[in-house]
Amino acid sequence: MAVVMITGSRGGFGRALTRAFADAKYDLILHSRTKAPSLAIKSKYKFVVGNLHESRTVGKLNKAATEWGLDVLVNNAAHRPPTGPFWGMPRDEVWDSVHGVGGLFDLTAEVWPLLKTSRGCVVNIGSIGAKIATDGEGVYGAAKAAVAQFSKGIQFEATRCDVRVLLVQLGAMNTGMAEGRPDQDKLINADEAARAVCSMCEIRFDTIRMPEVVLERKNY
Ligand SMILES: NC(=O)c1ccc[n+]([C@@H]2O[C@H](COP(=O)([O-])OP(=O)(O)OC[C@H]3O[C@@H](n4cnc5c(N)ncnc54)[C@H](OP(=O)(O)O)[C@@H]3O)[C@@H](O)[C@H]2O)c1
Repeated sequence: MAVVMITGSRGGFGRALTRAFADAKYDLILHSRTKAPSLAIKSKYKFVVGNLHESRTVGKLNKAATEWGLDVLVNNAAHRPPTGPFWGMPRDEVWDSVHGVGGLFDLTAEVWPLLKTSRGCVVNIGSIGAKIATDGEGVYGAAKAAVAQFSKGIQFEATRCDVRVLLVQLGAMNTGMAEGRPDQDKLINADEAARAVCSMCEIRFDTIRMPEVVLERKNY
């Protein structure tokens, strides 16, 4: 059975990814910052709880993956500070975003040998906010731009060891992160996006490298 690891699995998109990969019959290593919920899914799963800023959380995730093997890592967890002027933003909000990127680097490096063994796939969840600067979102945009360049940069070395790195740049989606937006009925449906991500993990090309996949809203 193929194994997927999903970070930030309690958030809106994390839950959708959990459902999509469970439906595709993956075993799941699920990460959450807070306590593990019980899930109504048929797949085998285990939970690792902890903040990705902390190396012990990364170590626990690697241990779980070493026990089961690992085919897909989905780096989904991210902190989005409230929209507004950066100079008024609490320092914790800024550093939660920046350290979130550090956690993604750490975890990817830690499980890389397992992905090399399985010829697996890393999915980094990015944002349109990395491509288009938005008023009041300088910190979030910067953090996501770092995720994007990291993903594109490591694709070359990944190719040499037959690992795929998929950067998925998402538009606004109907999760907690987009709470309060007036256009909820026009947002990307998280379950649909999760199914798209899951199916992309199955695709393997011989001569094509996809620097990024952009999933934008259809409805405006
Ligand atoms: N929703 C959108 O419109 C949108 C658009 C583009 C991209 N994205 C991206 O989609 C991904 C999922 O976001 P979402 O929409 O599902 O938002 P969400 O509901 O806020 O979920 C974010 C998840 O990340 C976790 N997290 C944040 N910082 C963490 C840390 N330091 N250590 C461990 N876990 C941490 C949160 O944990 P807790 O549950 O403990 O808080 C939560 O589970 C993110 O990468 C986001 O940037 C979202």
